[in-house]
Parts: sequence; structure tokens; C-alpha cells
Amino acid sequence: MRLSSVLLLVSLLASAVLADNSWTFMDFVTRWTGTACVQNPQFSMNSGNVPRGVANFTIHGSWPDRDDGTWPAFCNDSYPFSWNQIADLKPQLDLNWPSFNGPNADFYTHEWNKHGTCALNVAKDEHDYFQRTLALNSRYDLSAALARAGFVPSTTNTYNVNDMTAAISKAIGKTAAIQCANVNKKLYFLAVHICLDKNFQPMNCPAFVVKDCQQGCYVSTAMMPPVTDSCYR
Ligand SMILES: *[C@@H]1O[C@H](CO)[C@@H](O)[C@H](O)[C@H]1NC(C)=O
Ligand SMILES: *[C@@H]1O[C@H](CO)[C@@H](O)[C@H](O)[C@H]1NC(C)=O
Repeated sequence: MRLSSVLLLVSLLASAVLADNSWTFMDFVTRWTGTACVQNPQFSMNSGNVPRGVANFTIHGSWPDRDDGTWPAFCNDSYPFSWNQIADLKPQLDLNWPSFNGPNADFYTHEWNKHGTCALNVAKDEHDYFQRTLALNSRYDLSAALARAGFVPSTTNTYNVNDMTAAISKAIGKTAAIQCANVNKKLYFLAVHICLDKNFQPMNCPAFVVKDCQQGCYVSTAMMPPVTDSCYR
């Protein structure tokens, strides 16, 4: 074989083996709990994962992302999720990071293995990743910011999604994005995406994040339902 063919073969093998774990910003996703209850009526009644006192916004996760719309995933399979490492955070996790479709442990295992292990260049360890993500959820009082702008939970009102996005972006001081969900042909306010730099400080979300979210909010208004009684355990 010629040297160039050998080099080509070596680089092909290397790219197959060495995944690219690089990323440029973190997408912190926090969900409007009332909509999660609407989406998962079959689970909310019996999973026991939605205790009273649950936050209005509950965490989905902190996801390392790249500017081109791709993201690294499952970056360190020698560092599997361990409950023991975050046992002291359980009371906060129950109220701020509940699963809506299964045991919390399964949810955290997925979030850690898929996304958290990719953040090990900015988070010290598993505990640090979960703790810093929890801190993000209490750093901004998004329901107060929405309420100040007239967006309060309702079973009947629909709200302008651009105006809601503006109210949230104003509270954060950077461009955020709102994601919607279609449940039984109605559009609901699903989640807020806040983009963060590697110091966990907010930055303007890249245009594609905003665009992707807007595509889901394909009509201009969405419902913002309250957390109903049936959602609690
Ligand atoms: C992957 O996890 C192992 C075990 O905790 C750790 O020693 C190693 O530094 C991690 N690697 C990276 C790239 O984070
Ligand atoms: C949840 O939202 C409602 C309506 O905006 C508000 O009255 C309540 O104080 C919020 N609860 C928390 C814990 O922020």
C-alpha cells in the first residue's frame, strides 16, 4: 500500500473510534410544568413523581450544543450515573427536576449519560453538573417575569408566543427561546431554552435555536395551563 493510502486508512479508523465531544454553548431547558401535566395525564396520576410544591418551571436538562446544530452525546461511558453522588440533592431534584414519564432515576441516568458526561470539561463531576443545573432553575424567576407581563396560568387564555419570549428574554438579559407542544391539536407553552456560555452565564441563543423553537410554535399563540390537582401525586 502507498503511504497516502495508509494515512487515509489510519485517519478513517481514528474518526470512527474517536468521537468529537466538542461543544460551544449549553442549552438549559426548563419546562412549564402545567403543560407537562397536560402532555402526560396517564403518568401524572400514578408515577408519584410530581410532589406538591413542585416548581412552575421544572428542568429538562443542560445540554452541551454546537453552533452548527449538532451536539455531542454519551461522551464518557466509563462514568455512569450514580444516585449516591447526588443523594443530598434529592429534595431539590424532586421539586425542580421531576420526571413526568417514569422514575426520576431513569430520567437522571439518561440526562447524565447522554448530556452531563459531555459537560465534564466545565462541571467538576456528576454532583457539580446536577447542582449547577438546579441553581440555574432558581436563578431566574420566570413565572414572575411572565406574570409581570400579564402571562398568568389559565385554562382558557391563549398568549402571544413572541411577547412571552420577549418577557423572558428581558428577565434574563439575553435572547432566549420558547418551545411549544401540540397536544390534541392545541398549542401549549412547553419550555424555555436559555443559552449559556462555559461559565454557565447566559448568552444570546444562536439563531438556529430560536428558529427551531419557532417552528414548533407554528401558530402565534399558545396556552399556558396551571398545574392541575390531578398532576400531583
Ligand atoms: C471519564 O470518566 C472517568 C471516570 O470518572 C474519568 O476518570 C475521566 O477523566 C473522564 N474522561 C473525560 C474525558 O471526562
Ligand atoms: C407559580 O406561578 C403562579 C402564577 O404566576 C404564581 O402565583 C406562583 O407564585 C408561582 N409559584 C412559584 C413557586 O414561583
